[in-house]
Amino acid sequence: MQWKGVLALALAAPSSALVRFHCSQLVTERLDPLVQPGSIPSTHVHQIVGGNSFNASMEPGVYDMPAESTCTSCQFSDDFSNYWTAVLYFRAQNGSYKRVPQLGNNQFTSANGGLTIYYMQDAIYEPEQKSNVTAFKPGFRMFIGDVYARTLEQAARYRQLTYTCLDTFVTRSPELIAFPQRKCKEGIMTSLRFPTCWDGKNLDSPDHMAHMSYPETGTFESAGPCPSTHPVRTAQVMYEVVWDTKPFNNLEWPADGSNPFVWSFGDATGYANHADYVFGWKGDSLQRVMDSPCHFKTNCAEYGHKMQSIAEMNKCTQKPVVDEDIDGWLPVLPGGFQAEYAPN
Ligand SMILES: *[C@@H]1O[C@H](CO)[C@@H](O)[C@H](O)[C@H]1NC(C)=O
Ligand SMILES: *[C@@H]1O[C@H](CO)[C@@H](O)[C@H](O)[C@H]1NC(C)=O
Ligand SMILES: *[C@@H]1O[C@H](CO)[C@@H](O)[C@H](O)[C@H]1NC(C)=O
Repeated sequence: MQWKGVLALALAAPSSALVRFHCSQLVTERLDPLVQPGSIPSTHVHQIVGGNSFNASMEPGVYDMPAESTCTSCQFSDDFSNYWTAVLYFRAQNGSYKRVPQLGNNQFTSANGGLTIYYMQDAIYEPEQKSNVTAFKPGFRMFIGDVYARTLEQAARYRQLTYTCLDTFVTRSPELIAFPQRKCKEGIMTSLRFPTCWDGKNLDSPDHMAHMSYPETGTFESAGPCPSTHPVRTAQVMYEVVWDTKPFNNLEWPADGSNPFVWSFGDATGYANHADYVFGWKGDSLQRVMDSPCHFKTNCAEYGHKMQSIAEMNKCTQKPVVDEDIDGWLPVLPGGFQAEYAPN
């Protein structure tokens, strides 16, 4: 199996990368090549970052993302992957919706929206990462979360998809499973962590999740072994998305005190938080990053990894192929969704 070759390489090098970097907004529109390939439009609005070869089909194993891309909105210039999530809308008292924009995260404030990405080997934020991980391969993709979850019980299957109410721009706890039920002074951050154990065979699976698993002991943070069904340890991929809810704090909120934020597919509970990943790093560049002692993004260039400036990232954008208003005050969410609250 091919991954064994990659693993051998990984074992030959000292291993200590923990990278945290930003990707600016590539495009925001109704496309979803992972869950609804070929559909123009897909059912709900997403915000997408990464390589500009992103399109509605991206046939796995055939579509060469680094070769088809001419730029990436990510700081690592060899990363032509696509990373995306649904988008948030604010629901006004009169029932109209307005899209909540994103902000560049802490340390990336000049970025145009987008999201921050981590690839971690160990569940500590220390420079010294002792574990070894196997990088994903071309054609690899995954999904985490449940678009249909509307209860805590349904959401509990996905252990690390959370919301943080930003009292300051750098508030990082507590992490909540549902939408915060109060006004958050500096916005809302979503943190989305993918499972870290791969079956070593399948680049994808029908639900886009079964080829991946959490460690035997629960979450990545518990540092347990991978189950025998999914023996290959991968990096923890995590997204942080900062939603600029500040402008909506001055508008009228629901009189019953309920949260006015709604995902683009109608979930008003927050339990259906989910994320999509389509791997597209050039050649073995991700494995080389993970095998070098590169911490956050600050010293990665020293180890020969190609980095670009935030100004350059911001230039890599796509024109939406789906022509519709997603930003005005809208009577229904794009695709026809209305806010859905928890079942009684
Ligand atoms: C990771 O690889 C390095 C270099 O080969 C090795 O020294 C180390 O023991 C490995 N770590 C683990 C946890 O396997
Ligand atoms: C995606 O891009 C590929 C390569 O350029 C092209 O063959 C394909 O038709 C595109 N698909 C869509 C739906 O735009
Ligand atoms: C609904 O409320 C928003 C926020 O106050 C306002 O900007 C918008 O014009 C209103 N829409 C309608 C149709 O009244």
